[in-house]
Amino acid sequence: MHSIFSIALVGASLFTGSLAAPTFKANSTSTGTGSYNLTPSGTSSSPPSGTSLSADGFPSPNPDQLKKIELLAHGTLSNAPPPPPGTISAEGLINLRFIEFNENFEVAFFTSLLSNVTNGISGFQISDEKERSLVIEALTAVVAQEELHALNAAGALKSQNQDTILPCKYQFPTTNFVDAITLAATFTDVVLGTLQDVNQIFAQNNDTGVLRGLASIIGQEGEQDAFYRLLQNKNLIPSALPFLTTSTRDFAFSALQAFVVPGSCPNENLISKDLTIFGVLTLDTKNVLPKDQNLAFEFDFKSLLNSNLKFTSGTKYDSSYDWSKASLVYINQQNLPIVEKLQNVKLSGTVVSFEAFFPFSANELNGLTLAAVTTSAGPFASAQAVADASIFAPALIEVN
Ligand SMILES: *[C@@H]1O[C@H](CO)[C@@H](O)[C@H](O)[C@H]1NC(C)=O
Ligand SMILES: *[C@@H]1O[C@H](CO)[C@@H](O)[C@H](O)[C@H]1NC(C)=O
Ligand SMILES: *[C@@H]1O[C@H](CO)[C@@H](O)[C@H](O)[C@H]1NC(C)=O
Repeated sequence: MHSIFSIALVGASLFTGSLAAPTFKANSTSTGTGSYNLTPSGTSSSPPSGTSLSADGFPSPNPDQLKKIELLAHGTLSNAPPPPPGTISAEGLINLRFIEFNENFEVAFFTSLLSNVTNGISGFQISDEKERSLVIEALTAVVAQEELHALNAAGALKSQNQDTILPCKYQFPTTNFVDAITLAATFTDVVLGTLQDVNQIFAQNNDTGVLRGLASIIGQEGEQDAFYRLLQNKNLIPSALPFLTTSTRDFAFSALQAFVVPGSCPNENLISKDLTIFGVLTLDTKNVLPKDQNLAFEFDFKSLLNSNLKFTSGTKYDSSYDWSKASLVYINQQNLPIVEKLQNVKLSGTVVSFEAFFPFSANELNGLTLAAVTTSAGPFASAQAVADASIFAPALIEVN
């Protein structure tokens, strides 16, 4: 299998010298520790409010620290004046809080990943020196760029005299480089879908002043995504789809909960009062192939305890509910949601496991697909209509 670096060598003479195709080897010997000493591993600490853990001062850098972040990011925060106080809508403020929450997570994830690669942590060692240098150079910029994305949202909130969203403590499931990059590609796909939602909500509320900057971030995240797709070394093409899969703020906010150490967010309540956290839906099929097939899922109704769903119907979503009446809904590209029946439903304690058909060939379900369990069978006119009927969501499916 070719790595992208051998392609780069042939195609663009990016590097001189050997044409050997380097690969990521979890078991190779680290050739150096580099000059970074960031968060050492796994759980990334968040500063108590008002202080800062990282050397660059994030999330509250002083002017010198900001200058340093901008140098690493290869560019600056906009120097255009912020929106005048009171000019961003209530929904627009929810957008900005969600964006800062998400960017704070991305900063922590890429800081941990950069630290692991730089320090040659087992599973994150890259044997080819040129490859390793490029990855470190790219991730160094990404950390700083994500910090600027977060600071950009924070600046907009401050301009409206609103509290900013403070970083939480985070937990990451990945223990090797390829899995971490695969996860980065997946959550970046979710972000790219969710910024469509954010964009539309800003527009619907006449928050037109922020749209141009947001569009610049959407493109930037797309550039990152192509790099993560190539880095996985799975022969993926850089651009997954003609029209990227859409998502909603509620789906993204729910998905991000998996990476947050419970109870560690200083002021997440500023977001959770407005956005939904669903019960957890788990995809049990490990390798989804590009073909028609049944996928296996499960959910535990205990996860509803951590959700903030508001049930008004009086129905109890527990073992007494007839789960075979529920639907599994897929969201892919810009198409209308696809509704499937739950099959082979099994109840074991508080866990419901089931299968659902994945109609790949009729719909070209490439790239990201979101899956959600709804109690309504639709039809659904939009991703938001699915979110409004969801109980357990989202499961994230990636094909090609
Ligand atoms: C690492 O490589 C050595 C030598 O090739 C091999 O003996 C060992 O089993 C490998 N360890 C793992 C964890 O793959
Ligand atoms: C960094 O390495 C630690 C230790 O293996 C791991 O727990 C953590 O998830 C890694 N970070 C990322 C982003 O994969
Ligand atoms: C947005 O602006 C248009 C045109 O000025 C106006 O008709 C509409 O009511 C405004 N919408 C909101 C949500 O303020």
